Amino acid sequence: MARKATERRKILVVDDDEKILFAFAQVFSQEGHRCITAKSGEEALGIVASEKPDVIFMDIAMPGLSGLETLQRIKARNVPAPVIMITGYGTMQTAIKAIQFGAFDYLTKPLDVEKIREEVRKALPDRSHNASSYEAHSRFKADVIDRYELIGSTPAMQEIYKLIGSVAMTPNHSSVLITGESGTGKELVARAIHDSGPAASEPFIAINCTALPEALLESELFGHEKGAFTGAVERKLGKFEIAGRGTIFLDEIGTLPPPLQQKLLRVLQERECERVGGNEPFHIDARFVAATNVDLEAEVNKKRFREDLFFRLHVVAIHLPPLRERRDDIPLLAGYFLKKYAERIKKPITGFSDETMHLLLQYSYPGNIRQLENIVERAVIFSKGDIILPENLQEKVSANASGSKTLPIVSSVFSESRDHVLEMFEKQFVIEQLRKHRGSVTAAAKESKMTRQNFQRLMKKYKIKSEQFR
Ligand SMILES: Nc1ncnc2c1ncn2[C@@H]1O[C@H](COP(=O)(O)OP(=O)(O)OP(=O)(O)O)[C@@H](O)[C@H]1O
Ligand SMILES: [Mg+2]
Repeated sequence: MARKATERRKILVVDDDEKILFAFAQVFSQEGHRCITAKSGEEALGIVASEKPDVIFMDIAMPGLSGLETLQRIKARNVPAPVIMITGYGTMQTAIKAIQFGAFDYLTKPLDVEKIREEVRKALPDRSHNASSYEAHSRFKADVIDRYELIGSTPAMQEIYKLIGSVAMTPNHSSVLITGESGTGKELVARAIHDSGPAASEPFIAINCTALPEALLESELFGHEKGAFTGAVERKLGKFEIAGRGTIFLDEIGTLPPPLQQKLLRVLQERECERVGGNEPFHIDARFVAATNVDLEAEVNKKRFREDLFFRLHVVAIHLPPLRERRDDIPLLAGYFLKKYAERIKKPITGFSDETMHLLLQYSYPGNIRQLENIVERAVIFSKGDIILPENLQEKVSANASGSKTLPIVSSVFSESRDHVLEMFEKQFVIEQLRKHRGSVTAAAKESKMTRQNFQRLMKKYKIKSEQFR
C-alpha cells in the first residue's frame, strides 16, 4: 500500500501565549497531525521525555526557562526531534545562538499558516539526517558575541544572522564571500562569523588587498625565507601561516592582482603554500572570508577576476543590502549610535526629535551604516540640548527633505494607500515615544494620552518591544 502523502505526526508547540498555541493546534489538526502544547519550557521538557514528539516549535521569550535554555536542555538529552525557534523580536545573538544550540530553524513573527506548514515539511522528511546535524552543532559553545554586534531587526538582517550561525558550523574549508556596498557591515559580518565559530580564540587576520603593492603583499600573505630578496634578513611568517585555525579576512578581494589570484586559488585548492623564496610547504587550516564592494561577477565577465577563484571563494555567499533597502532598521541603528557616542563624550542626550527622525528615515545613505554612524556622531557633538534636533544634522541629510515631505502613495486604491501611511505614522510614533521614555510603556502611553492597552496593541502590531529602548 502506498504511503499517505502526509503521515500523522506528533508536534509539540511551546509558547506562553495561549492564542498562539490554539492557532498552531488548529493548523496541525487540519493537516491530520497531533498537536501537543506546553505553556512553559519546564512543561515542555516533561512532555519531550514522555511523548517523544517528532518536531518542536518553541517561542524564545517565555517566563521561567527561556526558549534558548529549553533548547539547550533538549539538545543535551540528544532528543532527535528538530526544534524550530520562534521569536517576536530577534537580535543577532539570539538568531546565531539558536542555530548554534542546534535549532533546525529560526522564525520571526508574524507567522502565517503557509510558513508553519512549510517548516513542518522541511523539518520532517529527513529525520535521520537532522539527528546527525545537531550532533555536530552541539559541539560548539555559543559565547556571547557582542563585541562586534550587528544591529538590525528587519527580515533581511535576520536572514544574515541565520547565515552567520550556520556558516560558523561549516568546516573551515568552506570559504565565504561577503558582498555589499561600502559601509554595509561586511567586516563586521566577517568578525561575527569568526567570533561565533569554534575557533573564536584563534587569530582573526584582516588583510586589505588594496593596501600594499603586489610584491609586498605576496610576502605579507605567504611570508618569506631569509635571503628571499634584498632586505629579507630573516625568515618572516606570512599572515596565512599566522592565522592558524582562525580566520583570514581578505578585504576588497576584487583588487587582488592576477598573479596573486592564481596563487590564492592554489592555496584554496591544496590548502598548502610556500613562503617566498622557500620550498618547504606549510599547511593552511584557516577559514577564508573575502569581501568586496564591487560586482565580482561583472569583474569575472570582464576577465579581470578569475572565474575559478570566484567559485572557490563563494562556497557560501552573504549579501548585505544597502541601508536604504532596510529603512526600518534606521531608528534602531540611530538609537544605538546615539547611545554609543553620547556615552563616549558624556552628554545626557536621550533621543531624536520627531522631525530629526523623519529626516534620518528619508535620507538615502550612499555611505550606508558607516555614514549613518558619522551623521549621528557629528550630531551628538553639535547638540546642545538633551535631544537631537534637525539643525544638528549635516546639511545634505536635510537638504531635499522639504521636497520629500510628500507622503508615499503606494497604491491607487485609496484605503490601501491610506493604511500604508497610517502604519508608517503609528509605528514611528510608538518608537519615538518609547525611545523618549526609555522603554517605559506606562510613561509613553500617558504622554500620548492613550490607554496602556491601546499603546500595547500598537506595539504588538508592529512587533516593537519595550526592551529595545532600555
Ligand atoms: N548592522 C550593523 N550594526 C551596527 N554597526 C554596523 C552595522 N553594519 C555596519 N556597522 C558599522 O558601520 C561601519 C562600517 O562597517 P564595515 O567596516 O563592516 O563596512 P564594510 O561593508 O566593510 O565597508 P567598506 O566596503 O567600505 O569596507 C563600522 O563602524 C561598523 O561598526
Ligand atoms: Mg570593509
